[in-house]
Amino acid sequence: MKHLLSNLRFLWLYWAFVAGGACAQNPSEGMNRFVDGLMKKMTLDEKIGQLNLPVTGEIITGQAQSSEVVQRIRAGEVGGLFNLKGVERIREVQKVAMEESRLGIPLLFGMDVIHGYETVFPIPLGLSCTWDMKAVEESARIAAVEASADGICWTFSPMVDLCRDPRWGRIAEGSGEDPFLGAAIAQAMVRGYQGKDMSRSDEIMACVKHFALYGASEAGRDYNTVDMSRQRMFNEYMLPYRAAVDAGAGSVMASFNEVEGIPATGNHWLMTDVLRRQWGFRGFVVTDYTGIAEMIEHGMGDMQAVAALALNAGVDMDMVSDAFSTTLKQSLAAGKVTEATIDAACRRILEAKYKLGLFADPYKYCDLSRARRQIFTPQHRVAARRIASESFVLLKNEGEVLPLKKQGTIAVVGPLADSRTNMPGTWSVAAVLDKATSLADGLRAATAGRARVLTAKGCNLMSDAAYEERATMFGRSLHRDGRSDKELLDEALAVAAQSDVVIAALGEASEMSGESSCRTDLELTDTQRALLQALLGTGKPVVLVLFTGRPLVLDWEQRHVPAILNVWFGGSEAGSAIADVLLGDVNPGGKLTTTFPKNVGQIPLFYNHKNTGRPLPQGAWFRKFRSNYLDVDNEPLYPFGFGLSYTDFAYSNVTLDKSVMTDKGELTATVTVTNTGKKDGTEVVQLYIRDLMGSVTRPVKELKGFKKIFLKAGESQKVSFKITSDLLRFYNYRLDFVCEPGNFEVMIGSNSKDVKRATFKLL
Ligand code: NOJ
Repeated sequence: MKHLLSNLRFLWLYWAFVAGGACAQNPSEGMNRFVDGLMKKMTLDEKIGQLNLPVTGEIITGQAQSSEVVQRIRAGEVGGLFNLKGVERIREVQKVAMEESRLGIPLLFGMDVIHGYETVFPIPLGLSCTWDMKAVEESARIAAVEASADGICWTFSPMVDLCRDPRWGRIAEGSGEDPFLGAAIAQAMVRGYQGKDMSRSDEIMACVKHFALYGASEAGRDYNTVDMSRQRMFNEYMLPYRAAVDAGAGSVMASFNEVEGIPATGNHWLMTDVLRRQWGFRGFVVTDYTGIAEMIEHGMGDMQAVAALALNAGVDMDMVSDAFSTTLKQSLAAGKVTEATIDAACRRILEAKYKLGLFADPYKYCDLSRARRQIFTPQHRVAARRIASESFVLLKNEGEVLPLKKQGTIAVVGPLADSRTNMPGTWSVAAVLDKATSLADGLRAATAGRARVLTAKGCNLMSDAAYEERATMFGRSLHRDGRSDKELLDEALAVAAQSDVVIAALGEASEMSGESSCRTDLELTDTQRALLQALLGTGKPVVLVLFTGRPLVLDWEQRHVPAILNVWFGGSEAGSAIADVLLGDVNPGGKLTTTFPKNVGQIPLFYNHKNTGRPLPQGAWFRKFRSNYLDVDNEPLYPFGFGLSYTDFAYSNVTLDKSVMTDKGELTATVTVTNTGKKDGTEVVQLYIRDLMGSVTRPVKELKGFKKIFLKAGESQKVSFKITSDLLRFYNYRLDFVCEPGNFEVMIGSNSKDVKRATFKLL
């Protein structure tokens, strides 16, 4: 009888789906009819239930029946679950929703699939340094294939928060400091996850986060207050969110921070006026974790008040707070929210499920055979290795220490020399940590039979054991060594003495960046600096392979170490990919997407700043009564866009096909780039523009185009950029999006400092 009833329920839903939607001429008409029909059958409790994304808790296959959240699913109190791994478990839970809840509405299964699933790609900050939109899209596509094969239909990615403060740990999760590049990456990620229209069972829904401005938290401290002008918002920070919405992202996540004095989660202007009315967003908004309950701490009222605030602002789904589920009925009775607002939120959740095809087939993502065939496959791993090697940035290579020869003895020394669990990087929820290759693994495999690879830990991550524990959470332990500093160092020096070259594998542990991993001291830790100094003292050539989730302060290293390769956290294949670059099988071509400061006091330091009324003359250091510091110049250690190669590139002067254009016209800027070195290589040719005079002050330069090219040794290529008035527009004082007549400077070069210039006039 129970089965008969559940089958009838499913038949009704299926019939309604076919009659209402599948055959309609206009797909949204069909969806509307279907959702209308379903909502007519729903009680108020069931509608509120759809808005609820509770903590999943422990669900063990075969025991789903007894877990607390499953009881709630049965009662129709849950719209979706997140971070539940394993297609069997997901199928079992979906079955409960389909067969044991009154209306049999399928659940959404979300996860933080941030930079890959089991095949892990570089952390997003590293990925952005590829400047390769095809690679970015491919990484998201592979992540979608793997996640969907394991039952996931919704990812909490892309994270597109612009950040100019490397103290903030979550700088690792974004694409750096630039709005133009950030927007391009946001769109590539959405395309990769969602495919054409999410109709395929390997396409999943994206969730753009964290809306909005989360990366601008004061003092780089997580969850902290944000306060900025609307001009800065719309000209800079908002661009990547908007781009992701334009690319069709199905959902948006509210950020924890406040925006203009109101927490984003309860901010009607942000969620409704900007996101829905101005930008035309048609998906749903989910809170970030306990975002609603946190508004109590922000001082916005009690649970009932903040839940009503969020719903009325335009938030549809409550992650974890259980604020909607426990208060909305009372608020309705008290006239604080309307049924129409609850209906609108419920409708958006149902629409997302419809768009994902879950009403047509609730088990669309639960094919039990796919996981075995499509997760962590050799092809996916090859792609991850290639993309990781593209993300590394060569910061220094004096005397051509790199690439190394596949011969002799290579010492790999440092706390990160032989760690597998630290390779995937922060936010790799689905990774099987010990499947990753360590740097030593990668080097051994690449040099097998030709060179000897010796390892030594050399030092603990830092001398403070409690700090090390905080910095190596979630199974990423570096296994603190009980030996004394001297014993560890002696072992490393003995290994170095037997070697031809020393690779110092130093930097951050992977959990030293990411959520709630902010830092104020960005230099190498005490123990690691001492180890590096001792290794340099041996007189052997030393290569610093730097693991990091943020720009570190490398002033000392830049002065003393001959070669520095920044490898971020490269993902499951990081070890092999680093070996590819160190040994010259791949020529590095990554370019920084965040400025590296000379010291922490310079922060925030970013290339697209304003000029001020008292700028320093080009190349000058200190001048009294100019905008500068007494103790350090204004220059970064490594500028935005910077990265070396094993070859060299020369740029010709910039030529413009005309020197005057109208706002309806266009002009073309061209340079010739030549590979003047002895190796083939890739170069990211960067276009910057400066609006020399405006009705509001304008940045000293802004990235407006880039092209990644491959040049054989000795080869030249003409690279052209089309400039239209769209590239010259900005939000003026009244927030109108305008371009203003006047002179513009065009700059093209291999990084934001090293550019060739030309000027034109917009009539
Ligand atoms: C909190 C994080 O801020 C967010 O990025 C993540 O998606 C959610 N937790 C869910 O895990």
